[in-house]
Amino acid sequence: MKAIIICVSVHHGNTKKVARAMAEVLGAEVLGPEEVEVERLQDYDLIGFGSGIYFERPHRRVLSFVEKLPALEGKGAFIFSTRGAGPAGLYHRPLRKKLLEKGFRIVGEFSCKGFDTVGPLKLFGGINKGRPNEEDLRRAREFAEGLKAQVEGGMNYA
Ligand SMILES: Cc1cc2nc3c(=O)[nH]c(=O)nc-3n(C[C@H](O)[C@H](O)[C@H](O)COP(=O)(O)O)c2cc1C
Repeated sequence: MKAIIICVSVHHGNTKKVARAMAEVLGAEVLGPEEVEVERLQDYDLIGFGSGIYFERPHRRVLSFVEKLPALEGKGAFIFSTRGAGPAGLYHRPLRKKLLEKGFRIVGEFSCKGFDTVGPLKLFGGINKGRPNEEDLRRAREFAEGLKAQVEGGMNYA
């Protein structure tokens, strides 16, 4: 199975840590959207899209990357994020919508807390210090194992 992870992580590198944990399991490269050779995406069985949550949504760079993609009908994709607080399901919605519009098949979503010192939080030392922690990364690896089994299982039946 060939996988790639496309990730933006600009605040504390929190999402990048999760991306690396997943990448280890999937044998995937982790790239920023600007580093991806779009014409080669067809070669992958699974594409991960990760981002910190900024103002209740994934980073603009991830969203506009997906907007510019050609249709990739039936291509397996997963979404992941780290966030300060609040509902991941809702935060993922703009990215989920764009991926579905491009024909992706979303095979899983993952989110965990991430160290957050935005705005006034900085005055109090931030929230979620030390996150993602070992337990978050263990869950991220477990999630990736599940994806791997799912995609490889599907390939065997193809
Ligand atoms: C400008 C900015 C806006 C943010 N907005 C939100 C938000 O709306 N909801 C939330 O839960 N976290 C929010 N956060 C916290 C980040 O999602 C969190 O710290 C995340 O782990 C950052 O990931 P990164 O280190 O990979 O960039 C925001 C952080 C920044 C810098």
